[in-house]
Amino acid sequence: MSIKNLNIVILAAGKGTRMQSVMPKVLHRLAGKALLQHVIDAAKELKPSKVVVVYGYGGDAVPSAFAHEDIIWVEQKEQLGTGHAVLQASPHLDADGTTLILLGDVPLLNQQSCLVLLDKTKALGLLTVSKQKPAGYGRIVRDANQQILAIVEHKDATDAQRLITEVNTGIIAAANQHLKAWLSRLSNNNAQGEYYLTDIVAMAVADGLTVVGEITHDEASVEGVNSKADLANLERIYQARYAGALMQAGATLADPLRIDVRGSLTIGKDVEIDVGCVFEGKVTLGDGVKIGPYCVIKDSAVGKGTQVAAFTHIDQASVAADCKLGPYARLRPGAEIADLAHVGNFVEIKNSQVGVGSKVNHLSYVGDATIGKNVNIGAGTITCNYDGVNKYRTVIEDDVFIGSDTQLVAPVVIGEGATIAAGSTITKNAPAGQLTFCRAKDQKSIASWKRPVKK
Ligand code: UD1
Ligand code: CA
Repeated sequence: MSIKNLNIVILAAGKGTRMQSVMPKVLHRLAGKALLQHVIDAAKELKPSKVVVVYGYGGDAVPSAFAHEDIIWVEQKEQLGTGHAVLQASPHLDADGTTLILLGDVPLLNQQSCLVLLDKTKALGLLTVSKQKPAGYGRIVRDANQQILAIVEHKDATDAQRLITEVNTGIIAAANQHLKAWLSRLSNNNAQGEYYLTDIVAMAVADGLTVVGEITHDEASVEGVNSKADLANLERIYQARYAGALMQAGATLADPLRIDVRGSLTIGKDVEIDVGCVFEGKVTLGDGVKIGPYCVIKDSAVGKGTQVAAFTHIDQASVAADCKLGPYARLRPGAEIADLAHVGNFVEIKNSQVGVGSKVNHLSYVGDATIGKNVNIGAGTITCNYDGVNKYRTVIEDDVFIGSDTQLVAPVVIGEGATIAAGSTITKNAPAGQLTFCRAKDQKSIASWKRPVKK
């Protein structure tokens, strides 16, 4: 279903005083993404002909954070109320269109309920929700036949009206032809001295038009963020839902309450994820991948059958099939690990290829290196890739054995099948098939030597 000539207006001018932050509220992040980005993404899925965002507090900070989006930005210099905010957008609304009003601080929007609301709406439609504690919200006033008569804001409501538990979510659909006229007639003659958008409901009724309501049962989808506690609450709801979807897709999660996905996580069959893992950006895990506890994986792909042990960090790297990583491995941008390779504890790999079946198992730094197949890199090996100004590459060909505690001073090439003796500092190319070593020549022992004693 898509609505003909749908305009979407997102209200995002508020400061969000209770966030206790200098940053405009809608820039705060949920699941790694700005609140307003969540709303924009959900809005775009409704296939609108245009999206208008009303911004205010924080000035250009909000529009400039979304420069990549195709959006009409409208400034509301003073926050004089939700009606005043929509009025600023009014000139951009198509005369024959329908407008859906969304709130920039309501991030878990449910597109389905928006579509149902739009489908029902002829002149004006309200998305409503029933609240056990409705204090603070605008109440939906209905007549004896359940027809909507008005929205009365909490501060303006009578004691009897305050008992009403059906409230305005703030998500409203309206035919532009009527909306534009109503907006021009708003006044601020109320308890808060604001131009209330919600006054258009009584105007519609006075015009003899039917106001429809759609009650949502997905409470989180209409919950706004007003404080850090609200933000944390919605974050947990979002993460619980994401974990649910992962399990639905077949993932085994050690604890669905202890996984965080800040982006998209795509999984194959029989993936297992232990507690405390964070996935950021776009991550893909192939069939049978096992992720140990407390791993952080960002914008990376991990091939089938690979096992990632505890506390491993993978950032903008690719790992092929049947590898073993960690515990405590760190793959930085540009690390490409081929099938069956091992990267062990306290090994950092950056902008390097590690060939099929090669092993870098202990305490090493591999940067700007090309490592062939079946190479063994001994403990404590360092590619010295940086002279303080420029970076150089190290090439280690197939079947090389690098002894422990070796420094490879780039640019340098270690030929196929070469062996480098432990403790070497290699500054020149090492020929294929030979043993190369470069260490202090003489090993001496002093028979008379005594350990110092405490004075
Ligand atoms: C509003 C509704 C209320 C509803 C509640 C749901 C009105 C008058 N009241 O109340 O019926 O139950 O939302 O949360 O509409 N904003 C602007 N410019 C302004 C004022 C607000 O952009 O001048 C934005 C805010 O940034 C926010 C949204 O509009 O995203 C709602 O504003 P808020 O002040 O939270 O409205 P409430 O008084 O809570
Ligand atoms: Ca609010």
